[in-house]
Amino acid sequence: MREQHGISRAHIARMVAIGAIASALGIALGLLIDWFPVQASEEARAIDTLWDVLVIVSVPIFVLVMTVVLYSVWQFRMRPGEELADGPPIHGHTRLEVVWTAIPAIILVALCSYAYVVLRDIETADGSGSGKEMKVRVVGEQFTWTFYYPQQGGKEVVSNQLYLPVGKGVRFAIQSKDVLHDFWVPAFRQKIDAVPGITTSFRLTPTKQGVFPVVCAELCGLGHSVMRQTAHVVAPAQFDKWLADKRAKSQGGGGGGATGSAPPKDGKALFTGVEPKCSSCHTLADAGADATIGPDFDKVLKGKDAAFIEKSITDPSAEIEKGYQDGIMPPNYGQTLKPEEIKALTDYLVKVATK
Ligand code: CUA
Repeated sequence: MREQHGISRAHIARMVAIGAIASALGIALGLLIDWFPVQASEEARAIDTLWDVLVIVSVPIFVLVMTVVLYSVWQFRMRPGEELADGPPIHGHTRLEVVWTAIPAIILVALCSYAYVVLRDIETADGSGSGKEMKVRVVGEQFTWTFYYPQQGGKEVVSNQLYLPVGKGVRFAIQSKDVLHDFWVPAFRQKIDAVPGITTSFRLTPTKQGVFPVVCAELCGLGHSVMRQTAHVVAPAQFDKWLADKRAKSQGGGGGGATGSAPPKDGKALFTGVEPKCSSCHTLADAGADATIGPDFDKVLKGKDAAFIEKSITDPSAEIEKGYQDGIMPPNYGQTLKPEEIKALTDYLVKVATK
């Protein structure tokens, strides 16, 4: 007859040994894997440390549960002839129940407190002082992001690319024109939903110059996967110049250019270079583009004229090609592109796609 009352010390010792080895391997693996993109903000460091701590704490818990389950299946499974046998009668074990309630509760409260402290530190403006923090309004819509820089006198400079000066705190005010989106620059780590009707917010300090993707992290419709933009973190002087340029260009109405201080006027360069890129959704042999999210320009523009093309760029809902859906193409090109850029794009498409 097999042992009926409790598990022997040998079993427990074996489970502990297996669990300890598996936990060590799991933690090593969890810490070795390079989960995240480059750290481009001051806050990224604290967030990555939080992640590492969560890995270190949760791997042994997962391993403990799995070890006990798998070990029990292996060692204590029913054997032939035991079909009618019953386990030992157990009427609860108060000490065990107290322990398995108290330990997870303590771990949870500790981790929540730690996460709260990290979040509070991140949300507190750093040395640059909250008064000097830069403000950027971020507006999501199906399917693009637009960035507004408040200026003196209540005016805003608009851009479809995010420019930030390195080393300066920035507070984002995030809004949505239509459905739920989620503003996320993975290199900065933080993200938050863009919710129609309210303004959400977070702050950070970029620490690394470079170009980082801005993505939407909330499923928001057919164009969700292409709802991308670019964040440029540049030297403060370069940022000031970019903003001054934009401000000068936006005077007298209309939006600013899309690509900073030296926007390409070449229609082909615009087609493949302006964000969001025409070439990431449309096919056009001349530009080497073969995307199929939007209509194929080598086919649908035959016999069309400049007026039609311009209207399609600035008001994409005006006419929808058969088989395609309204609302996928960003509706803000009319706002974020300069008139001469729209003209250059139109001329280019007339030249290469209408004949
Ligand atoms: Cu916007 Cu997903």
